[in-house]
Amino acid sequence: MTPDPVAPVIAVDGPVGSGKGVICHRLAKALGFHLLDSGALYRLIGLAARKHGVPLDDEDALADLAHELDIEFRPTSDPEEPLSVHLEGEDVTRAIRTDQAGTDASVVAPLSRVREAIKALQRSFKKPPGLVADGRDMGTVVFTDAEAKIYLTASAEARAERRYKQLIDKGISVSLHDLFLSIQARDDRDMNREVAPLVPAPDAIIIDSTDLTIDQVFEQVLTIVGEKIG
Ligand code: DC
Repeated sequence: MTPDPVAPVIAVDGPVGSGKGVICHRLAKALGFHLLDSGALYRLIGLAARKHGVPLDDEDALADLAHELDIEFRPTSDPEEPLSVHLEGEDVTRAIRTDQAGTDASVVAPLSRVREAIKALQRSFKKPPGLVADGRDMGTVVFTDAEAKIYLTASAEARAERRYKQLIDKGISVSLHDLFLSIQARDDRDMNREVAPLVPAPDAIIIDSTDLTIDQVFEQVLTIVGEKIG
């Protein structure tokens, strides 16, 4: 591993609902680092495909679309939503977070030409003073020489319960069992695909957050980052 003191990378991978998103936002803010939400890129490709009438199984056309993706992340003053996301000039911050966008992302993400098409774009986020990269293959494929690699996980039951509480708090009524089944299905697709499956990098430090609060996870992450980057 070649340490890069100018633009170190902290790669954070893990399954859906593991708390990666919240941890990565907090970490990037605490360190003043850039943030790459790689899942948002797959969501944007799905959205662009819908917009341009490209079928979600047309790998060549999707890869072309991914190569030419016209996107922008703009800082906002809202701490809950620190970046707004724009596709071809249109604000799609909310649109990429729908269930449909998540499902579309998981359909285009296994396509190797699509993944290849956005590799350079993902790597372009690595800039001084450093990068927090959030995804499924940050430590295994995109930033194999990252200074720190963390694999954040939790049992499927715990992840379903967290999601359930979030939705209930928002007044949205859902079935815990349905959420559990949907998380299991997403895990299956992410972990068992042929290209860039979700696995911990051999040099990743694994944090199982099943019995931890988000603050406890963040403490552990800060300790790891302090040891690896200083
Ligand atoms: O983290 P998310 O829910 O926004 O990710 C959306 C989809 O994109 C998810 O099904 C997995 C996929 N993804 C991926 O294959 N590789 C990444 N680095 C990030 C996300």
